[in-house]
Amino acid sequence: MSFDPRQMYATFRSVVRFREIDTDPVSRRLARCVTVDDMRRIAKRRLPRGVFDYIDGGAEDEVTMRRNSEGFGALRFRPNVLRDVSEIDTSVDFMGTRLPMPLMLSPTGYTRITHSQGELAVARAAASAGLPYSLSTMATRSIEDVAAAAPNGNHWFQVYTWKDRDLVAELVGRAKAAGYRGLWLTVDTAVLGRRERDVRRGYTIPPKIGPGTIIDGIVHPGWTLDFITNPPIMFANVAGREGHDEDGSDPIVLAEHIMRNFDQRLSWDDVAWLRSLWDGPIVLKGIQTVDDARRAVDAGVEGIALSNHGGRQLDYAPSPVDIIEPVATAVGEQVTIICDGGVRRGSDIVKALALGADMCSIGRPYLYAMGAAGERGVAHLLDFFRDGMERTMALSGRRSIDEIDRDLVEWAL
Ligand code: GLV
Repeated sequence: MSFDPRQMYATFRSVVRFREIDTDPVSRRLARCVTVDDMRRIAKRRLPRGVFDYIDGGAEDEVTMRRNSEGFGALRFRPNVLRDVSEIDTSVDFMGTRLPMPLMLSPTGYTRITHSQGELAVARAAASAGLPYSLSTMATRSIEDVAAAAPNGNHWFQVYTWKDRDLVAELVGRAKAAGYRGLWLTVDTAVLGRRERDVRRGYTIPPKIGPGTIIDGIVHPGWTLDFITNPPIMFANVAGREGHDEDGSDPIVLAEHIMRNFDQRLSWDDVAWLRSLWDGPIVLKGIQTVDDARRAVDAGVEGIALSNHGGRQLDYAPSPVDIIEPVATAVGEQVTIICDGGVRRGSDIVKALALGADMCSIGRPYLYAMGAAGERGVAHLLDFFRDGMERTMALSGRRSIDEIDRDLVEWAL
């Protein structure tokens, strides 16, 4: 055996290349965010336990919450090959606008709990990706501030029916004045589901400071610094109204707050009332049966979001993926169907469309992305979905949305 240092160096160079050192901590974090689950793990590490559990948890046994995403795992593809997939077009028409892909961002309350930029960051990332975002009534940034932060955004406003109908009408008027495209009326939250992680912890919004939270804050210094160096978090659109102190920053127990302010008499008459206030598109969020999908069509709404509120309301309720097909068979020609729940990959979007959905929507994934890396996290997440959808279509021989048909998927036994 001869000893040739030059040869050894050449061999060493051929297998070892030192990576350039990335000095940007956010980009180092993003490099580790390969899946939604990675973002969840990083968010879990960065957020205080109570905050993470509020986002991550569901109602009671969390059976519905788990099924929402696991249901997609029960579908298999039947791919076609040899179809020239050099051009893949994921674009789609959604309520009068051409979107780059059939995905939107669902309303989530209290988004600043994940990152100080809150809804402004989500709106900006959605607008950059050309995707619609529905701002929540329980948002921590105002209707007007979100519109100003992303002037080219495709903004929607989510409505909770408060007992104080003047407040609802006022919010809807503000959304119209600020150029919002449509409304999402949430119909599954007359009372709050029992989120037992929050009950166990005595979780309030914002979190109350006690010995446990102080320790939690110390072990999550990034979040704590972000929290205490920014103005108090409040429900920006409803602060000062019933059940709130003037600046809206008093800690509340969500279930009590909802009992006090939301109208438990919420009924189909309220859908007609909202219709009379708003001439743009309305989506009913929280439809869970074929019967209610039919009633929604009769009520004259343009869209339905098949949703169980991320498994946060009625446990053992059906999961969106399980009801897309029967609902699409019954009313697919008359109304836009949005699958809101459990979508964790671009391939899940393709599966939902194959079953008959027109569009998907995500909530928790972007909250994890916010917790992991703020606005850049959300942008990274939306790229991940787009890329996953394109790859799935290429690998299954579907070049455009029109080609995603029922033959593409089957239920695995
Ligand atoms: C609010 O809508 C929540 O699910 O916590």
